[in-house]
Formats: sequence, C-alpha cells, structure tokens
Amino acid sequence: MTTEVRRAAEILRAGGLVAFPTETVYGLGADASNAAAVARLYAVKGRPPGHPVIVHFDSLERALAWTREVPKEARILAERFWPGPLTLILKRSEKAKDFVTGGQPCVGIRVPSHPVAQALLKEFGGGVAAPSANRFGRISPTSAAHVREDLGSDVDLVLEGGPSEVGIESTIVDLSGGTAVLLRPGRISKADLQQVVDVEEKTASSPRHSGGLERHYSPRTPARLVPTHLLDKEIAQLGDKVAVLAFSRPDERVDFWLRMPREPQGYAQRLYAALRELDGTGCELILVEAPPEAPEWAAVRDRLLRACG
Ligand code: TXA
Ligand code: MG
Repeated sequence: MTTEVRRAAEILRAGGLVAFPTETVYGLGADASNAAAVARLYAVKGRPPGHPVIVHFDSLERALAWTREVPKEARILAERFWPGPLTLILKRSEKAKDFVTGGQPCVGIRVPSHPVAQALLKEFGGGVAAPSANRFGRISPTSAAHVREDLGSDVDLVLEGGPSEVGIESTIVDLSGGTAVLLRPGRISKADLQQVVDVEEKTASSPRHSGGLERHYSPRTPARLVPTHLLDKEIAQLGDKVAVLAFSRPDERVDFWLRMPREPQGYAQRLYAALRELDGTGCELILVEAPPEAPEWAAVRDRLLRACG
C-alpha cells in the first residue's frame, strides 16, 4: 500500500474526486454513497443529470451487495471475467441510490483488475462511482497525462498507473431483465461471453446509457471513416488538410499519418491516444481507414463510428 493510495482513499472518504487507472481507461472516482461527491463528479464531467455511472468494487462480494435478484448468468460472468473489463447491469439493492443509477431500478457494477485500482478500492472499502475521466462526450483518457490535460485542477488527485492496457471502455452486459443483453462491446467480445452464457444484442428498449448516444468519444476535429479502396482518392482531393489514421504506410502527400496495428486488441490499446494526437495537429479533417467487418473488430468499430459521428 503506497502513501499515495492511502491519501486517495482519504480524499474519497472526505467527498473528494480521485482519478485512477483501470485496465480499460482512467476513471474519475467519487464515493458512490455520497450524494454531494457524486454531484460534484457530474459537474466536473459536465455530464447531464440522469445518466447512470458505473460503481467499482474490489471484489465480487462487495459488488453483489449493491444488487438483488442476481440471476445465475451474472455469477457465471463475474466468476469468469472479474476482476476485469466487464460491467454488469443488475437490479439494485437499497445501497445503490438514485444519484448513481440515474433513477433507474438497476445499477452498473464492475471489479477492475488494474493493481492500482484494486489497491484503492480495497483501501477505500466501498463502492466508487467512476465514469471515464474526461469531459462529457470527449475521448476517454488512457494515461494520467490525458486526465490532467482534460480535468486539470478540477480533480483532487490523479493516481499514476501507466498506459491503459485495454484502451477502450469495459464491455457492458445488462442482466436486469432476466436474459443477458450486450449493451456496449469491449475487449471481452460477444463470442467470449457466449462461451459461458447466452447473450443477445441490444434493442431499442434496453436501459439508456450515455455510450449509446450517437456522437460520443469524439475528437474536436471532424473525423470520417473511409473504406480502404477510397482512401487514396480522398487523400488526392484533400491532401495537406487532413490527418490520417490507417493500416498502411504513410503517404507523402499527408503531413500527419498514424499507422495502426492490424490486430484489434493492439488497435484498441492505441486508439484514443492516436485520436488525441491527430486532434492536436490543427488539420481540418481526420480520415480513418475503416477496420475489417469481422466480429473481433466490433468494439473498435463501435468506438470509431461514434468518434466519426
Ligand atoms: O471501462 C469502463 O467502463 C470505464 C472505467 C472507468 O471503469 N468507465 C466508463 O464509464 O466507461 P462511463 O460512465 O463513461 O460509461 C459507463 C456506461 C454509460 O454508458 C452508463 O450510462 C452505463 O455504463 N451505465 C452505468 N450504470 C448503468 C445502469 N444502471 N443502467 C444502464 N446503463 C448504465
Ligand atoms: Mg465515458
């Protein structure tokens, strides 16, 4: 236990805000039992009221105390994938108040695996409400430096934990309605989930979640997805006005070109830092080479579609 983590837990207990690393992205944490602390969290994020936040715990036992009527599929998923990049939506117990659930009868819970997150959650001993540590609608942070850039002095402490290993937000599965429904794809894919439980895709009646808004996780610069076979034509037309995120080697007509891995986990890991970098170049448009249609690219495709509005 480092003194830094102990100090972070004290700040949480006093109603303050602590940004901390998780294996997915950095979270902006507040005591999930403290209405005033969560209100400040919403204010700093600029998040509209009524949007639920995920509550983080050090263990399955502590997490399940915030829920009731837990279906067996939830236990199976938790035992298989926790600690790790999975969020479960379950019916809430009286511990989960309206101010973390957005007034909904269900709560989002997650047990992250990052050692710093684990240490903090263990030391704090309760639930920590934590959305991604970025202003609402912007790109999620995958390093402590990203958090400081975005939130500056609005956060009481930023815990350092290196670059996020997964790089995109957790997979969300809704189990509040009996069957398992995939609300947000992530590193844990639908196929991974299907190995242990039956999972359906979401429909229009699934609980609302801010990741479901159309434009989200966006750079400030307009971004556009371009199929591989049209990339050359677009570059010929737009030339020096664009920055490019692509699989292929840089084209000399373009000043800012980031080459991405041809493998989805490596791509996801680098995606947000890459979008931030291209966003800072002053270009007029970011062209993003569309990733393959294959299921293993589902989570990356989801984030790119949102980034490209
Ligand atoms: O990987 C992650 O999940 C990161 C790290 C920090 O854990 N957190 C994160 O939180 O992405 P956030 O707030 O940016 O996105 C959480 C998503 C939102 O779309 C939220 O609305 C949904 O989870 N969610 C949380 N609680 C919910 C609930 N009770 N019902 C439905 N959706 C819920
Ligand atoms: Mg977010």
